[in-house]
Amino acid sequence: EKAGFDHFMLKEIHEQPKAYRDTMMGRIGADGKSVTLSKEIGMTTEQIRGISRVHIVACGTAFHAGLVGKTVIESLARIPVETDVASEYRYRSPIITPDTLVIVVSQSGETADTLAALREAKRNGARVLAITNVVGSSVARDADDVITTWAGPEIAVASTKAYSSQLIAFYLLGLYLAQERGTIEQAQVAEIVEAMHRLPDQVESILEQAELYKGVAEAVSKHDNLFFIGRGLDFAVAQEGSLKLKEISYIHSEAYAAGELKHGTLALIEDGIPVIALVTQEDLYEKTLSNIKEVKARGAHVLGIANAGYEDEVAKSVDETFSIPRTLPLLTPALSVVPLQLLSYHASLARGNDVDKPRNLAKSVTVE
Ligand code: M6R
Repeated sequence: EKAGFDHFMLKEIHEQPKAYRDTMMGRIGADGKSVTLSKEIGMTTEQIRGISRVHIVACGTAFHAGLVGKTVIESLARIPVETDVASEYRYRSPIITPDTLVIVVSQSGETADTLAALREAKRNGARVLAITNVVGSSVARDADDVITTWAGPEIAVASTKAYSSQLIAFYLLGLYLAQERGTIEQAQVAEIVEAMHRLPDQVESILEQAELYKGVAEAVSKHDNLFFIGRGLDFAVAQEGSLKLKEISYIHSEAYAAGELKHGTLALIEDGIPVIALVTQEDLYEKTLSNIKEVKARGAHVLGIANAGYEDEVAKSVDETFSIPRTLPLLTPALSVVPLQLLSYHASLARGNDVDKPRNLAKSVTVE
């Protein structure tokens, strides 16, 4: 059932190209220039135009997908978005109005915290849209609208293909909302859709080099602390990379917005500490590179993840560089997370841990 892979996690990492294709299927117009979610979303154009704010609510990895979702929806559909952890959202008296769209994200659709937040949102009169991987799950049943991610069953406790398919769902949703609200030109939709169609093959090309991450993961596994840094969407992906590493390798790590290091965390940088730096956002290249220099100057061993075409520039400032295929900046999370998944996988193995069933964790958390 592991289809020749040693672990479910590795199998699921390799299933991502298919998961991307399946999640896009039937949702992109035959002309390749529009996105159709009218089967999933029952709102009229007028209702979509009436949305005044969006709240994205989820836990763990799904929350991290929601961080990317915030940027996607804000930049394409120009609606203010807040992303919250479900266990916090519910108890902080969020301002929920009838023109608030609450988006809950849950792989299993059974997470108690997320379900409770969904019910709270509905009690307050909001419309709830679920992004879930399980058809007929509690979250799917209770939501008004459902976008199913077609990642297929995810067995490993550490979420991989469910996260990246949630990203695809957010891209589709952002484009759809933007079309309905008239905040995007058709040419831009076509450009993004075309780039989305290339993602599965691009993931494939990262997977072809999966072994590259083994050596570096073995080196990382000897450390007890490390940092992930990035700016913008790279920071969102850094947070997911850090969680992945913690949950299966038990190595303590923290993700930092690269520009924030000098406001405190830089004190923790000492000789040899690994820092994994994501440098995929063109507008922020220079800024991130200057933050990399700050940690290098304090002795950090920096591993850079950079876009193809920019890796030589990054290589000048870091110790080791890994390149990922080039796509639009908004879409890079769907690629840059893959090396981080592989790194965590190999670090967990190197430490002799049970990759698929890490200690203290369950696949679905049905208690609050
Ligand atoms: O099923 P859900 O997406 O609602 O689960 C949410 C989290 O419990 C889950 O993403 C958790 O953080 C994973 N173990 C992360 O890999």
